[in-house]
Amino acid sequence: MDQERRSQREMMQENEKQARTTYTNAQAKTAMSRRDNKASKLRVELTDPRKSNYFYEEALKTLRTNIQFAGADIKTILVTSCFPNEGKSDVVFQLAKEMGMAGKKTVLLDADIRKSVLVQRYLVDSDVKGLSQYLSGQAPVRDILYGTNYENMDVIFAGPMAPNPSELLNGKVFAKLMIELKQRYDYVLIDTPPMANVVDAAIVGKVCDGAILLIESGFVGYRAAQKAIKQLEKSGTHMLGAVLNKVDARKEKYYSYYSYGSKYGYGYDQNHENA
Ligand SMILES: Nc1ncnc2c1ncn2[C@@H]1O[C@H](COP(=O)(O)OP(=O)(O)OP(=O)(O)O)[C@@H](O)[C@H]1O
Ligand SMILES: [Mg+2]
Repeated sequence: MDQERRSQREMMQENEKQARTTYTNAQAKTAMSRRDNKASKLRVELTDPRKSNYFYEEALKTLRTNIQFAGADIKTILVTSCFPNEGKSDVVFQLAKEMGMAGKKTVLLDADIRKSVLVQRYLVDSDVKGLSQYLSGQAPVRDILYGTNYENMDVIFAGPMAPNPSELLNGKVFAKLMIELKQRYDYVLIDTPPMANVVDAAIVGKVCDGAILLIESGFVGYRAAQKAIKQLEKSGTHMLGAVLNKVDARKEKYYSYYSYGSKYGYGYDQNHENA
């Protein structure tokens, strides 16, 4: 009987020991996976529909070089335009790719919470979180930063449309994000809405190192461009220059797809008052 009790006790002790070991192993695994999750970065596959074009790529390289020569402290740069559809999102994406290829750690930040095209245009098929969720406290930075299939290029999507984009962008949370991104990346390239109807670009400009005004060739008048620049400067935005986009190379006798001016207007026809 005593023998039986002893062996029962021994069995119970053995079981307890095993349970303790299993528990400890499970705890260790959870801690490890937490560590792994923290370290591993979210990723998306982007498909660029643009066909390669020698002149276009050369012009982008020029733009990239000009930005690099703008100064070591010019890292967070927004791109805006006077009117919709002038080509901001296209240029920002291609520029981010180009910066990445040149070995610069770059993040493309889509701050056009009103009308983002990134997910659709570059055929992102996963359900991604974005800026609007971060700004409204629904997602931490690590949940909105995505690595991509392009070298040195990360992306932050705009996220779902919010009813108050200007308010969100105007808060301390966005300013904090800019500081954090500036520490992590060589360049932060920001896509914004056009200046015509909303103040978002000027708001973003307050916490950026500089802004580029994109001008669609033959479409935007001198006065409209000047008005946009004044509006940006009034908010404290540092203007870096202008990019003339959609240039008809044959008609305008330009050698490149894009033209870049270090002070708003290189290759820009001041007689056009059509805007
Ligand atoms: N250099 C270019 N040459 C020809 N077409 C272009 C060029 N850049 C952009 N486009 C085309 O112009 C259209 C608008 O481009 P995009 O969406 O980049 O403009 P946007 O300024 O970001 O517009 P929005 O103000 O609506 O955000 C797209 O169909 C794009 O393919
Ligand atoms: Mg756009």
